[in-house]
Amino acid sequence: MIRSLRGMNDTLEPEESARFSYFIETATRIAKNYGFRFIETPQLEETALFKRSVGESSDIVGKEMYQFTDKGDNDVCLRPEGTAGVVRAFVQNKYDRQETTQRLFYHGTMFRYERPQKGRLRQFHQFGCESFGEDSVLEDVSLILMVRDIFDALGINFTLKLNSLGDPNCMPQYRESLISFLQEHEAEICEDCERRKLTNPIRVLDCKNDKCQVVYKEAPKLMQNLCQSCDNDFKTLTGLLDEHSMKYEIDPHLVRGLDYYSKTAFEFISTEIGAQSAIAGGGRYDRLVEFLEGRPTPAIGFAIGIERLMELIQMPEVTREGYYVGAMDEDAISKAYTLGMKKRASDKVTIGYKARNLKAHLKAADKANARYCAILGENELNNATIWIKDLEKKTESEIPQKEF
Ligand code: HAM
Repeated sequence: MIRSLRGMNDTLEPEESARFSYFIETATRIAKNYGFRFIETPQLEETALFKRSVGESSDIVGKEMYQFTDKGDNDVCLRPEGTAGVVRAFVQNKYDRQETTQRLFYHGTMFRYERPQKGRLRQFHQFGCESFGEDSVLEDVSLILMVRDIFDALGINFTLKLNSLGDPNCMPQYRESLISFLQEHEAEICEDCERRKLTNPIRVLDCKNDKCQVVYKEAPKLMQNLCQSCDNDFKTLTGLLDEHSMKYEIDPHLVRGLDYYSKTAFEFISTEIGAQSAIAGGGRYDRLVEFLEGRPTPAIGFAIGIERLMELIQMPEVTREGYYVGAMDEDAISKAYTLGMKKRASDKVTIGYKARNLKAHLKAADKANARYCAILGENELNNATIWIKDLEKKTESEIPQKEF
């Protein structure tokens, strides 16, 4: 038997697929309320796009990409995340030259060649939002509140972790002081951190090695080294979150696994799903449009990992819905089919294709979770009527087919 690849799952079980679509519907509705519109970008892009945006020194680009040479000899890659492609589309279609704010949302599969475990897949789904053209902190606040709205609507508990990663005014200086600190503590840190020290020193701060974490407790904190403008923005942000009763924890070691961030960085964490606890992540990336050769455009976004939410989503109570239509007689099948098809213009309809007795049809209607079971027998066929049972109220009636 041919099986799916490791870390790549089907969404097939009725309850799981219902949760998945319920999530997409809910998040889409809320994103639209916040002024976002749908964007779809290819799953395959030039490898250079991710190298330049996510960053060559990141684990994603360094170790986890599904990268290959296609038949035309192009170096391509299955997208490991959604932001890079959206920014590429934004620049390629010259949206960077328009003065208006562009707010775009997407959902789809992402690919990372990671070691699969609970909550960590090689093919997974994100729902993401990217906003271009707003440098106001109010946009940062709006995006964070939007994630809260989505999680609240789904009954999901979370904590918000927040940090500021500075900007080109304060980050380089901080980087230098962090490098000197790391050089002084060279003997105490792990190999990975040793390597990152020069390529991407900030990333050492979220090293999972306990010994490293002890060392980094003493490391200089970016939060204490922010320039005036970043510091002001961060204070405004936290003040506004307070005003909107949005609780947060400031985490100076929250650096994110992608290199394009500056200023606001955030992660939503769930304590109910095990080690892979980040259910959403995002932040500002004010320089990425420029890196991808667009006009400088401030931007901010986030992505929610859909698989990690699956067991957390609280579904509304399932109610019976629509019709089941069936025939008790061979002669009535075609008429029942026609009536069922017409009804599909306005309602969810399941049609039974075979002539069966009433009991069998009622059972099938119940299984299909239909509210009404509508049946044509010989009598109904002769009288141009249809027999209907309301499976919720347990009432029965016979009405003219014209009124069905
Ligand atoms: P990220 O933090 O790499 O950010 O991913 C966002 C979310 O995707 C994570 O919080 C997690 O829920 C989910 N996720 C990541 N990797 C996996 C995996 N292997 N298996 C299952 N779920 C996973 C980004 O991707 C950025 N593009 C977010 C962003 C948008 N920043 C600005 N705009």
